[in-house]
Amino acid sequence: MVISAVSSRVESLSSSGIRAIPKEYIRPQEELTSIGDVFEEEKKHEGPQIPTIDLKEIDSEDKVVREKCREALKKGAVEWGVMHLVNHGISNELMERVKVAGKAFFDQPVEEKEKYANDQASGKIQGYGSKLANNASGQLEWEDYFFHLIFPEDKRDLSIWPKTPSDYIEATSEYAKELRGLATKILSVLSLGLGLEEGRLEKEVGGLEELLLQMKINYYPKCPQPELALGVEAHTDVSALTFILHNMVPGLQLFYEGKWVSAKCVPDSIIMHIGDTIEILSNGKYKSILHRALVNKEKVRISWAVFCEPPKEKIILKPLPEVGSETEPARYPPRTFSQHIQHKLFKKTEEALSKKV
Ligand SMILES: [Fe+2]
Repeated sequence: MVISAVSSRVESLSSSGIRAIPKEYIRPQEELTSIGDVFEEEKKHEGPQIPTIDLKEIDSEDKVVREKCREALKKGAVEWGVMHLVNHGISNELMERVKVAGKAFFDQPVEEKEKYANDQASGKIQGYGSKLANNASGQLEWEDYFFHLIFPEDKRDLSIWPKTPSDYIEATSEYAKELRGLATKILSVLSLGLGLEEGRLEKEVGGLEELLLQMKINYYPKCPQPELALGVEAHTDVSALTFILHNMVPGLQLFYEGKWVSAKCVPDSIIMHIGDTIEILSNGKYKSILHRALVNKEKVRISWAVFCEPPKEKIILKPLPEVGSETEPARYPPRTFSQHIQHKLFKKTEEALSKKV
């Protein structure tokens, strides 16, 4: 049976019973040496580990207790740019509802999901999709996804949200509202950590009206040759902050001090990334870490990433003047969010082309 990788969903490829993956999914030779078995990787306890930050005391009346909690968050953002958040204030019940609803959507047959297919060529980016091959490399990723804007509520298009299961809209909307509150709290601690006023970073990324929360449910089917593929290739997030839930199947890896570190599965936690936007505004004090997702042959992995992004054109992102100094000049040129994305794409295409020469 010949399966076209271009027209197939990864889920269809996976369930077709193929034993060898199409060549578009095979990573370049130099990358293959770093791809190991994700379950083995997760068991490793030696070496640096992603910090777990307990937010229980983030608003404590006791100044010393409060500052200790906030310092830990700041330290995580400076040293890693990624962390497991616990006691973040969002109930397990709500997170569970979001996960049950997302999984129920993906549990439907591919034909059902195709009714929600996006159309990237015509600019319809919301909906069900898979990565299209980048022209330069032709490389594909072992995942399908569902992508849609979930906050602010007046910018949502509920007509494209999954109608099945029936709790999807309510659970996801409630979660979006709660996450938006958590984002404000985190941004205020990060602002204070830079010596800025509490509301400054929130304002710089667009505030309540303009900061967009986009959810991407990543669905990684079982892969017959996980040692050859990646679910998501190495990248840094362009967002201000990213919040991630997952179904307790390992897969996320972070590139820390020259090595790939596998994220452990921490119950009831939310993984949070500092994205490029905050890295730029903070002139590199807070880090946007390189990361990727491995796949495996035994279990489907699902993750729910919510990207908190500034508006595409309205804001020029550049290091805040208060953050730099004469000894620390601005490390990033001024760019809109959209120009920043274009710049990254351009760099990536150039790299891919240079490898082909
Ligand atoms: Fe990411």
